[in-house]
Amino acid sequence: MTAVALMVVGCTEKRDADELRAEKLMAKMTLAEKIGQLNQFVPQNSIVTGPDGSPVDVKNVIKEGMCGSMLNVWSPKEIIEYQKLAVDSSRLGIPILFGHDIIHGCRTTFPENIGISCSWDPAMTEEVARISAAEATAFGLAWTFSPMCDVAIDPRWGRVSEGSGEDPYLSGQLSAAMVRGYQGDDLSAGNTILSCVKHFAAYSAAEAGRDYNTVDMSEMMFRERHLPSYKAAIDAGALSVMSSFNDFDGIPASGNKWLLTDLLRGELGFKGFVVSDYSSINEMINHRVVADKKEAAELALNAGLNMDMVDGDYYKFAEELVREGRVSEAQIDRLCKDILTVKFKLGLFDDPFRYGGEGRWEKETWLPEYLETARKVARSSMVLLKNEGEVLPLKGSERIALIGPAADSRSEMTGTWVGFADYNKPVSFFEGLKARFPHNDIKCEKGCDFFDPIEGGISKAVAAARGADVVLMTLGLPNAYSGEAASMANIDIPFAQKELFKAVKATGKPIVILLVTGRPMTIAEESDAVAGLLVTWHPGIMGGTALADIVSGDCNPSGRLTMTFPLCLGQVPIHYNAKSTGRPRKTPTNNAKYVSRYMSTPNEPLFAFGEGLSYTEFAYSDLEVLNPEAKLGETVKVRIKVSNVGKRDGEEVAQLYIRDVIGSRTRPDRELKGFKKISLKAGESATVDFDITPESRSFFRADKTWGEEAGDFDVFIGHDSHASLKGIFTIAK
Ligand code: NOJ
Repeated sequence: MTAVALMVVGCTEKRDADELRAEKLMAKMTLAEKIGQLNQFVPQNSIVTGPDGSPVDVKNVIKEGMCGSMLNVWSPKEIIEYQKLAVDSSRLGIPILFGHDIIHGCRTTFPENIGISCSWDPAMTEEVARISAAEATAFGLAWTFSPMCDVAIDPRWGRVSEGSGEDPYLSGQLSAAMVRGYQGDDLSAGNTILSCVKHFAAYSAAEAGRDYNTVDMSEMMFRERHLPSYKAAIDAGALSVMSSFNDFDGIPASGNKWLLTDLLRGELGFKGFVVSDYSSINEMINHRVVADKKEAAELALNAGLNMDMVDGDYYKFAEELVREGRVSEAQIDRLCKDILTVKFKLGLFDDPFRYGGEGRWEKETWLPEYLETARKVARSSMVLLKNEGEVLPLKGSERIALIGPAADSRSEMTGTWVGFADYNKPVSFFEGLKARFPHNDIKCEKGCDFFDPIEGGISKAVAAARGADVVLMTLGLPNAYSGEAASMANIDIPFAQKELFKAVKATGKPIVILLVTGRPMTIAEESDAVAGLLVTWHPGIMGGTALADIVSGDCNPSGRLTMTFPLCLGQVPIHYNAKSTGRPRKTPTNNAKYVSRYMSTPNEPLFAFGEGLSYTEFAYSDLEVLNPEAKLGETVKVRIKVSNVGKRDGEEVAQLYIRDVIGSRTRPDRELKGFKKISLKAGESATVDFDITPESRSFFRADKTWGEEAGDFDVFIGHDSHASLKGIFTIAK
């Protein structure tokens, strides 16, 4: 038997053993105790992150053996206390599974996820997750509600900051990397955690970008844009999934049997358990598909939703529902077994205190190597979008004016929803620059708050600009404007900052905007007026140091956009992988009447998917399709030469897009199907190989099956989604 086969057999045996152990335990459990495993509660004193807090007295519920999991426990000590209570005081001593949102770092905060995705670096993303897992387990956690695989094309939606952008393939690659990083090779190790794929499904498609809003789309759209990213994360081995708040085809996800059972388990072969989102079972009452909490519990249980996050509906009604014959005991058994099997896999029964433990939180977090990784990730996430006259990197001796609401803010480095972050720990931009340029004259002026003027702020900022050779100016949005419940109907730079910007601009000094944001913004006016534009996102704990690395030229920027920046809000939703329509506007200046265009606004965005500058230049040549006449089921191999033709060493993300020329359903004009990040010294060239697999050519065909079709394809490889170097290939039957 080969090594691989042995490994597979090993895994199967392990899985079977865990399931068997779960079954054996269940033989001793009462119906109530089985239902107990389906409940997740927060402590009474915990913060409330939805409409309601805990509906029960958690300590008593634990003693009754009715609490399978907890979230939002805010100290390692409390985790140990609750676990002791479960193990020592409940009849069967089943350990609690502690979960939390560890989404872009735990104590060591990394950039917001949209920033991480701009690194286009799965290995680095995996490392972020590995470090997050190590720190989270040091706290006592065994489970993180991450990655968010929702693919988003609407920057009004605040949660675009938590995802990996607008492209299904890239989002899938990065989500899978996160799962591997969290779960490692051994889920039962004390420094790996259970990952949770969320929010299943299509949560990001909320109408008008308003959080929690209705979702309605065709099956084709769902399968092509949304499903691939969840699937990639599940295929990477994630053993939990979170149902989303939205309705899907008229049925809320938490009660949607087609989603949670037929598709997830049947089609995708998911083997773990599903947890609801915070109070999403109760919310089915507001969706008006059930009349009360009992009906909500019934719908969710029968849909295949294993765990009730905070509502207490399973706790209150599941037993009654079984007695009344509305939910079968066999269904409760299935739901319970999934959860217990994962608990066995995590090793919780072998050692309920395996996660956390004495002093780990103090000793095993903020390690120097973690901070160094945070610095690397932050600088890889920053995207340089404009650099006229090579305003960056700084030459070295400039007098610098650092202006704007985030100029010297530590807390605004962190980004959204980082429960364990110390907001005073990050390196601010000002601190980072001072450390890197100790001999330069650097003046820092806030000028205004994010939304409000400060008395005398503008005049101080203008004075600082006048005395400087270059102005670095932070514009953007605060942490609280990223993430859940942070939708915006206007994504312009806030008025107070616009006023400050105009005054500083009037000094005539060269300006580099540092855009601090968790979402694309409409910044055409500001971008047009300046020499430089660097999107820093909310860059995490090492933000200031990473900024100094970039502006000093110690690090050559390599970030590339993973979401389109619209020219104006009216273009939203906007994304690169659009379809041509029956009346395409073939050139940006075609003003003919009956074509698909706006009357007085271009169709093109301000900055497109994949864009990002470097301090060097890359050239693409010699695109070669090695087997241009392939057959269905065969992989097409493509090769290209990438050269660093500039004067500095740098990193390039070579991006491959395909166009299926004719399909039985309409196909996007181009779709990302491969990317490679490569490092090239000045003057160096490399050959880059890509595989275009049958799966990557597959789509939701006219007959409603998933698969590829014979025919002609174009392939484009280049620096971004405008890539123009083209090859062709044909797939024969
Ligand atoms: C609601 C959010 O939608 C979800 O992403 C998160 O994991 C849960 N709250 C738990 O905090």
